[in-house]
Amino acid sequence: MRVTRRIAICLPIAAMGLSLVAGGAAAQNAAPSPTPQDTIKIGVVIPMTGVQGAVGREISDAIKLYVAQHGDIVAGKKIELIFKDDGGVPDNAKRLAQELIVNDKVSFLGAGLTPSAMAMAPMATEAKVPTVVLVSGTSVVTERSPYYVRTSFTLGQQAGIIADWAIKNGSKKAVSILSDWAPGAEAGKVFEQSFSKGGGQILDTLKVPLANPDFSPFLQRAHDLQPDTLFVFVPAGEAGTFARQFAERGLDKSGIKLIGPGDIVDDDDLPLTGDALLGVVTAGIYSATHPSQLNKEYAAAYQKASGHRANFISVGGYDGITLIYEALKKTGGNTDADTVIGAMKGMKWESPRGMISIDPRTRDIIQNVYIRKVQKVDGQPWAIEFETFPAVKDPLKEAVN
Ligand code: PHB
Repeated sequence: MRVTRRIAICLPIAAMGLSLVAGGAAAQNAAPSPTPQDTIKIGVVIPMTGVQGAVGREISDAIKLYVAQHGDIVAGKKIELIFKDDGGVPDNAKRLAQELIVNDKVSFLGAGLTPSAMAMAPMATEAKVPTVVLVSGTSVVTERSPYYVRTSFTLGQQAGIIADWAIKNGSKKAVSILSDWAPGAEAGKVFEQSFSKGGGQILDTLKVPLANPDFSPFLQRAHDLQPDTLFVFVPAGEAGTFARQFAERGLDKSGIKLIGPGDIVDDDDLPLTGDALLGVVTAGIYSATHPSQLNKEYAAAYQKASGHRANFISVGGYDGITLIYEALKKTGGNTDADTVIGAMKGMKWESPRGMISIDPRTRDIIQNVYIRKVQKVDGQPWAIEFETFPAVKDPLKEAVN
């Protein structure tokens, strides 16, 4: 790894006609550090503070891990990462993206939560900055700029599959509890369409405020309606609070099946949920227990570097920086937006979550969706995969386009 990296640094310098002094360590020390033209800046706008602060930690830990593993030189250019905290506030994201483009002259942006990613899109378009959507799970985000490419997920990818699974497994009457913002609305829409199409009945749709959620009254209402199935979407970071209130209301022992997209069993929160979520079945894009060799190594390295379990958010960051590195290798370090986006379209590689690719038509991620059940292994709850739906596209784009 080291040798390859040194060659990668030296070759372009030699090609530029600069001479290097003697080999070995001396050469490394004497090699001129990359000039500003040889540096590629990547500006990542994520929430590091506020209710969704865990998301920023997960994304930045994963990106830093990738760079620690692969080095900070690619295609002869030095990679410089700049992380900016938008606190989950779209106006901040817009201002920070502007500063990153105008002052820092970034060649790439990383976008976080849906409202922030929406707010940044016009700037990415105008300044022609290739932007990797690292977190947002809302379908429409990738349509907001021709320079947006997604490595996260969509809620629709997971919600339709869990609806079909529930119908197949005897669910007839469902209540939805949805975090009240764009990804919640999409999760609910796709779930309810598929569930109804399968002959199921939606008894009610309950919307919970995003900030400082108190699920208790909604859980009580859901319980009173006596559904056989409860479909829940809460975003990353809220699964712990949800699980506690779910158990406090006795719903874990009520016989009502709890299902959802993967967010409800977020690996970052699962270790804190005790027995509350045991048996919960979800359709998700990543589990820390995904049984591939690559994921075993990734999850162990992430845990070691960050002190947390790898989760479905961090893998979006890891794959986002992978996509940037691989695109730069393909373009030979050229950062022209159209060239970069052209290189990214159709790219396919093995992620810790399984094989993934970038749909050349929509610039959205195509990935496996797994059905998982929460089980205790070695005293801790984990989402254990037992069925795979390969190469799933965003169903909302498929339906519209
Ligand atoms: C989003 O920003 O769309 C988002 C964030 C966290 C989630 C799901 C969706 O868990």
